Amino acid sequence: MRVAILGGTGGIGGQLLTWALNSGHDVTALVRNPAALAAQAALADHGVLRDHGALAGQGALAGRSTASASGAGTLTLISGDATDGSAMRAAIDGADAVLSALGPRGARTPGLLGTAAANLTVAMEKAGVRRVICVSAAGPFIADDPDMGAVIKMILPRVFAKPFADTRDMEAVISATDLDWTLVRASRLVDKPGTGRYRVRPDYAPAGGRKIARADVAHFMAAVLTEGSWLRARPAVAY
Ligand SMILES: NC(=O)c1ccc[n+]([C@@H]2O[C@H](COP(=O)([O-])OP(=O)(O)OC[C@H]3O[C@@H](n4cnc5c(N)ncnc54)[C@H](OP(=O)(O)O)[C@@H]3O)[C@@H](O)[C@H]2O)c1
Repeated sequence: MRVAILGGTGGIGGQLLTWALNSGHDVTALVRNPAALAAQAALADHGVLRDHGALAGQGALAGRSTASASGAGTLTLISGDATDGSAMRAAIDGADAVLSALGPRGARTPGLLGTAAANLTVAMEKAGVRRVICVSAAGPFIADDPDMGAVIKMILPRVFAKPFADTRDMEAVISATDLDWTLVRASRLVDKPGTGRYRVRPDYAPAGGRKIARADVAHFMAAVLTEGSWLRARPAVAY
């Protein structure tokens, strides 16, 4: 399968990238800093870089063209920013499916998720790509969660007002399309080894589920892609 990955230098996205390559998929990754990927030994034997737009020339892998490691998929890096519509189109073109694990890296890119979702859906519709699986979050939707306590419902949305609004914007943009979307609502992310054992519930985190390893979010997204499950749905994942 040809898989486009957004956020491949991040926690969840890095796991997705490794899974996709090890599973023999041909991956195109939109990255702001190709050198960050070049530094990952696991990726050293994969792929080619295509520089794109304003960031052209930054890529440490520019010009490099290497056969994939034995048994693994190939990697094409598009150097660019998810807020740039033309970079997004370059990353999406020719894909069979998109995996997005974009995150705003703190407050450094306000409105990133909503803006990137608009670029993504336009690019997908133009390119005729239908399948997209995005990391979302359970937190921005706890107001309607029947199992969430009143205190948390009062505090969390105030503390995280801006990122929560951005996540809701992203979900609104994507769910308004007729694409084959899945919005994976992660609970609090932790950097622990993946277990492959977690609970999934439509819309809201499983009762009492408060956290999930980034590796297990990636594990679930990979399963959703492979199985073709949770179409036009918002599964929430937690332990
Ligand atoms: N923190 C939590 O507890 C929690 C809970 C639920 C859901 N989430 C959500 O989970 C998602 C992924 O989390 P994570 O920890 O895996 O993310 P992360 O490690 O912060 O990685 C974010 C990724 O997005 C990329 N990115 C950021 N801005 C970009 C831009 N303008 N153009 C292109 N790429 C850009 C980053 O690239 P660079 O390497 O270039 O920066 C990086 O690859 C986030 O959306 C987060 O909000 C978080």
